[in-house]
Amino acid sequence: MKKPVIDQETCIGCGVCASVDASVFEMQDDGKAHVIDGAEINESTVQDAIDQCPVQSISWEE
Ligand code: F3S
Repeated sequence: MKKPVIDQETCIGCGVCASVDASVFEMQDDGKAHVIDGAEINESTVQDAIDQCPVQSISWEE
């Protein structure tokens, strides 16, 4: 199954991904977004989050 990854170096913690798909992305205490372990991936919603991240920190895992 495809899975998104977040570049922790470039994420600015804007929170857009978590508001687009709260079942996959969550903001943590480090101020960055993280992919929730075992999250059910809805490809089109995750793609929306990828497209809306202002700094292109989210990508599909290779
Ligand atoms: Fe970070 Fe982009 Fe989400 S900046 S908080 S990965 S929308």
